[in-house]
Amino acid sequence: MTNTATVDIDWKNLGFSYIRTDLRYVAHWKDGAWDQGTLTADNKVHISEGSTALHYGQQCFEGLKAYRCQDGSINLFRPDQNAARMHRSCARLLMPAVPTEMFIEACRQVVLANERFIPPYGTGGALYLRPYVIGVGDNIGVRSAPEFLFSVFCTPVGAYFKGGLAPSNFIVSQYDRAAPNGTGAAKVGGNYAASLLPGQEAKQRSFADCIYLDPETHTKIEEVGAANFFAITRDGRFVTPKSPSILESITKYSLLDIARDRLGLQVEEGDVYIDQLDQFTEAGACGTAAVITPIGGIQNGETFHQFPSGDTVGPVTRRLYDELIGIQFGDRPAPDGWIV
Ligand code: COI
Repeated sequence: MTNTATVDIDWKNLGFSYIRTDLRYVAHWKDGAWDQGTLTADNKVHISEGSTALHYGQQCFEGLKAYRCQDGSINLFRPDQNAARMHRSCARLLMPAVPTEMFIEACRQVVLANERFIPPYGTGGALYLRPYVIGVGDNIGVRSAPEFLFSVFCTPVGAYFKGGLAPSNFIVSQYDRAAPNGTGAAKVGGNYAASLLPGQEAKQRSFADCIYLDPETHTKIEEVGAANFFAITRDGRFVTPKSPSILESITKYSLLDIARDRLGLQVEEGDVYIDQLDQFTEAGACGTAAVITPIGGIQNGETFHQFPSGDTVGPVTRRLYDELIGIQFGDRPAPDGWIV
């Protein structure tokens, strides 16, 4: 079933866009259970016009990557963590959980069936996997769907932000991404729908994206576009915001471990105030798609704050990046259980 013909892709110039690949995994939930699931060549989803995913946003998704290593093997980075986060998102939106083994097996099948789309080692690209669960079936009332669909598709990607490892500038948004007791911590489409207008306005002003503050007091940094925020303090600590409305980035938690265990830094998850940026020497956005994107400066109202690292990658950010992608591409030893 697997097509092994060479694909005509300019691997070095991949951005973050959709390239149709050969096969995707689809499973259905009905009467209390998931079916076996299959791989299909059809990249269209055929669902009832009454599907809750279409009207009431009953859906969630994940993002993870498969990496081609120097010895030809393929690494999946922490898929169990994506499965666990998807359990939490499904619980928040009243959808049935996809068992962890089923989630990882679906990812494994999709990667192997689309092996020819994995960017070669050394190009910096990876195969991005997009698992999702959506509420489907005939329905019109505001209630949980009678049926669900779980799918995983993939597409080869390069840098998410145009600059890649070159620092980008961001602007503080006047909009909120999530509500204090809302769905900010769940990876659900509604959070991203809310970010489309602010993101577009930021880009129209030549910023890479916007920074969201906490919805309650508008004093603390929460997120950077669709990624998490981290910074390095003048005394060398790795700090990152903690809040119930932040999407818990697996990359962020991996960096917390790497900073502490491999770089020997003190690490802290806590409040990061937007008016205290001058305590940081370096800052960055992190996530599966963003990997690590250094932040050059932040526009907050009339004030532009430039970090001392400016338009170069700060030394700690560089070490974090090298360690993270070294683990992902199999060049550095991985902590137990991080690679499948
Ligand atoms: C990811 O980093 O996987 C994300 O979910 C960001 C994205 C929505 C492109």
